[in-house]
Amino acid sequence: MAKITVVGSSSMDLVVTSSKRPGAGETVLGDHFKTVPGGKGANQAVAAARLGAEVTMIGCVGDDHFGQIILDNFKSNGVAIDYVEPVTGMESGTAHIVLAEGDNSIVVVKAANDCVTPAYIEKAVDVIRQSDIVIIQQEIPEETVVYVSELCAKFNVPLMLNPAPARPVPASVVEQASYITPNEHEAAVLFGEEPLGEVLRRYPNKLFVTEGKRGVRYFDGDEETIVPGYAVEAVDTTGAGDTFNGAFAVALAEGKSLKDSLKFANRAASLSVTKFGAQGGMPTRSEVEGSL
Ligand code: RIB
Repeated sequence: MAKITVVGSSSMDLVVTSSKRPGAGETVLGDHFKTVPGGKGANQAVAAARLGAEVTMIGCVGDDHFGQIILDNFKSNGVAIDYVEPVTGMESGTAHIVLAEGDNSIVVVKAANDCVTPAYIEKAVDVIRQSDIVIIQQEIPEETVVYVSELCAKFNVPLMLNPAPARPVPASVVEQASYITPNEHEAAVLFGEEPLGEVLRRYPNKLFVTEGKRGVRYFDGDEETIVPGYAVEAVDTTGAGDTFNGAFAVALAEGKSLKDSLKFANRAASLSVTKFGAQGGMPTRSEVEGSL
C-alpha cells in the first residue's frame, strides 16, 4: 500500500451559495449556507485515503468545535492523525467560500495552521523518512515548506509541492521538489514573465500545470504535451486541484507511469466536482477505475 504523508492545512469551509457574486460594497441575497471540512492539506489527505493509500496527516487544528469536527472527519476517512494536534487557545483554520456564477471565491484564515512550524515537524521526522511520497501546499508557514523540502531531499523521499495559494517559492524548494503542480495563476506567480513553454522545458517531467477541464500541461523531455481532462457536469469545483494532487501522488507511489498517473488524477479530479463541497465528491478507488 502506498504510504503518503501530507504536511499542510486543515480547515472548516464556510460555504455560501448564491446566484450572484457581490462586488465591492454590494450586498446580495444568498441561497444556502453550509459548513464542511476543507483545507488544502486535509483535502489532499482525504483524497489519497479514499483512493486506497495509507495516509498520515501532519497539521494543527484549534481547540474549538471545528477542530473536533476536522479530527472526526480525518478518522472517518481513514487518515492517521497521530501528528494532528489541537493547539490550546487557537481557533481552527477557516475558509470563507462564495459559490456563485459557476465558480468559487475563497478567503482563508489560517489560524491554527500557522502552528505547523519547523519545530512542530520535528516530532514527525520519522514518518516523513518512511513515506513513499510527501505532499505539501502553502497554507502553512513558508519556513515549514523549506524545512520539509530539505528533509525530503536528505531522505531521498519524493516531494510533491502544490504551490497553492499562490506565493513565491524559494529556489531551493523548486529545485528539491520532485513534482510541482501549480495552476496557471500559481505558475505565473512562481515563474514571473518567462513564457510558460520555456519554464516547462526547464523542468521536464517535474512541472505540471493544471488547466482545469483542459487537463494538465507538462514537458515530457521531447515535447510539450497535455493530458486532457474529462468533461462532466460540474456542481462545485472546490477541491478539484486537491483531488488531483492526492490522486497523482497515489498513482505515482504505486509505480504507475507518469502518463497513467496523470490520467488517473484527472479522472479523480473530474469526479470530485460532481458533488457539493471540497471533499463531497472525492471518489473512491473503484469509482475512478470503473470510469477510466
Ligand atoms: O483547495 C480548496 C480548499 O482551499 C478549500 O477546501 C478551502 O479550505 C481552501 O483552503
